[in-house]
Amino acid sequence: MSEIDAVIDLMRRRYACHAFRPGVAIAEEDLQAVLEAGRLAPSSFGLEPWRFLVVRNPARLPELQDACFGQPQAVTCSALVVILASVADMDPDSATLRTRLAREHADDFAAGLAAYRQFHAATDTRAWANAQCMLAAMQMMLAATACGVDSCALGGFDENRIGALLGIDLKCEAVALLLALGRCAQGPGDKRRVPLAQLTEYR
Ligand SMILES: Cc1cc2nc3c(=O)[nH]c(=O)nc-3n(C[C@H](O)[C@H](O)[C@H](O)COP(=O)(O)O)c2cc1C
Repeated sequence: MSEIDAVIDLMRRRYACHAFRPGVAIAEEDLQAVLEAGRLAPSSFGLEPWRFLVVRNPARLPELQDACFGQPQAVTCSALVVILASVADMDPDSATLRTRLAREHADDFAAGLAAYRQFHAATDTRAWANAQCMLAAMQMMLAATACGVDSCALGGFDENRIGALLGIDLKCEAVALLLALGRCAQGPGDKRRVPLAQLTEYR
């Protein structure tokens, strides 16, 4: 199979799993591969505005399921990766921001920081960081498929409750997405997608 066929095949095979087989552990190397795929995601200014919190303790899952409006994936999964968007760390005056920006603007840090400061003042940092977390999530889901691990992105959650349960300071970080991982109890459904011709316009 050519490389592009392999990539498209992976995308076709990934599907949102709505119920996992409980009690099936995910191999440590698979979990690490999924997290590494997230780490490698691209980010605006190369700032990597994310953090991954892995919940593997099954005793913690029922309360998290509750905070996900009772969705079964959240309690049947083998691991729940909580993708946190770094909001406070993206402040132009934060130490993290300056360290990371310096990697991209080694030659002229002052000019890079001035440009970033302007951008930051005009941007909804929370939404901007959240959007980038989705890129990390997508890479993680594809990596999971490649490892034979099923996944479900969970955007349906009460952020305040997740924050309280996991001790996340929501003034500093946002809960971007939960990623449930495990072995699916059901097979894939049909891939329902709008035909490309309806989505694409060439000028
Ligand atoms: C940002 C985002 C949030 C999602 N949230 C949920 C969710 O809370 N619960 C759920 O069952 N599926 C959720 N999904 C999965 C979608 O429902 C699913 O990807 C879509 O129906 C297409 O199906 P497929 O992924 O199997 O191709 C989410 C997907 C994305 C991208």
